[in-house]
Amino acid sequence: VIDSAPQLGDALILAPSDARWIDVALGDLDAIHADHLHCERKAAQSALSLIRSYPERTDLVREMARLAHDETRHVVQVSQLMARREQPAAYDFGDDYAVALRDHIRKPEPARLLDRLLVFAVIEARSAERLDLLANALPDPKSRELYASLATAEFRHRDIFLALARDIDPATWRARAAELAAVESEIFVDRAITARIHG
Ligand SMILES: [Fe+2]
Ligand SMILES: [Fe+2]
Repeated sequence: VIDSAPQLGDALILAPSDARWIDVALGDLDAIHADHLHCERKAAQSALSLIRSYPERTDLVREMARLAHDETRHVVQVSQLMARREQPAAYDFGDDYAVALRDHIRKPEPARLLDRLLVFAVIEARSAERLDLLANALPDPKSRELYASLATAEFRHRDIFLALARDIDPATWRARAAELAAVESEIFVDRAITARIHG
């Protein structure tokens, strides 16, 4: 389903992050890594939850199985980075960003599936942008390399979700993607900038 992936990303252009975010992030890398670990964990769980909800959709099952595998590998990689930094993991205090986005998922099918895929595409796109900012700014070369590879993976995941959304609803997926991108920028208005991946 990802054959035309290079063009798909054009359907989901997010507003750039506030320029102050990267300095806040670099100022508390322990908080960033602790939060990031749970972002990767939740990405894996969300992919698996789509398999639970839509087992009859063969493409979705195959793509989400692979994606969950990627995300659990990312959990391993972030936990290894934290171990190198002698930093223990922390409890997950929730993600009001993802909650605010999920509020816009419509209830009736097949709109629900379309929206779930597009909300995940938005989260992947924002994560990729933030991880790329970190890849270009982190002080330690090994961390920069890790974050560059993670950013690449999350951009690819964005395109997997967009391809699945396109296949679900070829007529309306682009318009809905644009709506959810606008919703996403609203979420950042008047919001405190924090040392979190979606902060
Ligand atoms: Fe990931
Ligand atoms: Fe991802």
